[in-house]
Order: sequence, then C-alpha cells, then structure tokens
Amino acid sequence: MTDLAIIGGTGLASLNGIEIVRREVVYTPYGEPSGPLTHGRLADRNVVFLARHGYAHTIPPHKVNYRANIWALKSIGVQQVLAMAAVGGIRADMRPGWLAFPNQIVDYTYRRAHTFFEQDLERVTHVDFTHPYDEALRQKLIAAAQAARLQFVAAGTYGATQGPRLETAAEIRRMERDGCDLVGMTGMPEAALAREQQLAYACCAVIANRAAGKSREDIHAEIEVYLKKGMDQVRALLEALLQEL
Ligand code: HPA
Repeated sequence: MTDLAIIGGTGLASLNGIEIVRREVVYTPYGEPSGPLTHGRLADRNVVFLARHGYAHTIPPHKVNYRANIWALKSIGVQQVLAMAAVGGIRADMRPGWLAFPNQIVDYTYRRAHTFFEQDLERVTHVDFTHPYDEALRQKLIAAAQAARLQFVAAGTYGATQGPRLETAAEIRRMERDGCDLVGMTGMPEAALAREQQLAYACCAVIANRAAGKSREDIHAEIEVYLKKGMDQVRALLEALLQEL
C-alpha cells in the first residue's frame, strides 16, 4: 500500500533520496497525467511521486492536467496527497526560504478544468470546501517541521493565480486586501479536485521570493536563491513526516 503521494512542484521535479521501485503509466478518462507515477521507498515508507510540471519541467501551471493527475493518484488507491508548491510571500512573515502550510485558499484562476462533477451526473454535487486542506495531514506536517527544526509558518491563505506570468504590484496589493498571505499558480483547482475525490490533501508551500512589489530584489534572482534553500528543508520535512504517518 502506498503511504503517501507527493506532487512535486517547481524545484522538485525529482525526489532526492527516493529509491525508485517502478514507474507506472496511468491512462485516465481525462487524458494524460503530467507523467508516469514513480513508485518508490523513502524513509522506509512506500511513496508515489508525480512531477506536476512534467519530469523535464515543460508544463506551465495553466496547462497542467490537474484532473488527470488527481484521478491517476486516486485510481491506484492513494489516500493522502502532499502537494509541494513554490510560492511568493505576501505577508511580511512569509520569508523567502521558509516553508508554509496554508489552511485557506482564494482562487483567482480561470478557464482550467476544475471539477469532476460536470457530466453524466446522477445529481448535482457541491463538495464542502469550507476547509480546503485536510487538517489531520496539515497537523502532521506541522509536527514534522517542528521535529526537524525547520523554519516554517503553520497557517496562511494561499491565493492561486492563473500565471504563467508573475503578478503586478497592484494585483498583490489587492490580494493582500483579500486576505491572501501567499501567492502561487498551482494550488487550484488541484485542491478542489482532490476534495472531490475524497483524498486527504495538504500543501507544503516553499516560499521562493517576496511577492511582486514587496521587495527591491530582482524577483527571479530571489527565486533562484531561495527555492534551493527551501528545497533543502523539504527533504528533512519528508523524512520526519513519513515517520509521523
Ligand atoms: N507568484 C506566483 N507564483 C509564484 C511566485 C509568485 O511570486 N513565486 C513562486 N511561484
């Protein structure tokens, strides 16, 4: 049985330290997932890994087949999904290089296939999305980050933008007024689709930069430095998390 599925984001196209057991190509009614599922062993657990942007990082956020990815994971019997995501920090304490475990979402994406419930319905379905992330898995992430003595923020609101361009400074000010603490391009519809499939889904955000207009540094230069720093923490987080599961 697979203990945890990990969806890797920017900076995590492969999983360091995973002992690969096999790769599995899954066909779905929604088309192709971002790549084959990589089954492996990590910290004495069975994990399955999927690179959201493809193993060569060629699929932009608005072109990711979120439905196929979630359906593929569900179809192999996965119950828990950890989504890794590079983000920009909006709130002052969302520091580049730190991790964050968001507990809320505001969705600004558009024209993405965002539901499984649109065809051949027995009846119209509205999933409860009051709390978009699985709180039990989130608490395990927090405990793991504490155990591994990582630099992290335990909650926050993730604003999901359409991309692939970065935001304007005014858009970030609007998101701040809306209550967003973090900004990323892949959090939705992934989280909602996972809920529709009754998967326990939580996000580990890797803060790669200060959001547009929040820093004088060049945004790409920041991403280059801090994504790596953040990712160095991810390995330790995963090992600690897998012991918690
Ligand atoms: N905005 C949106 N997505 C991101 C950012 C950002 O500043 N940094 C990393 N992913």
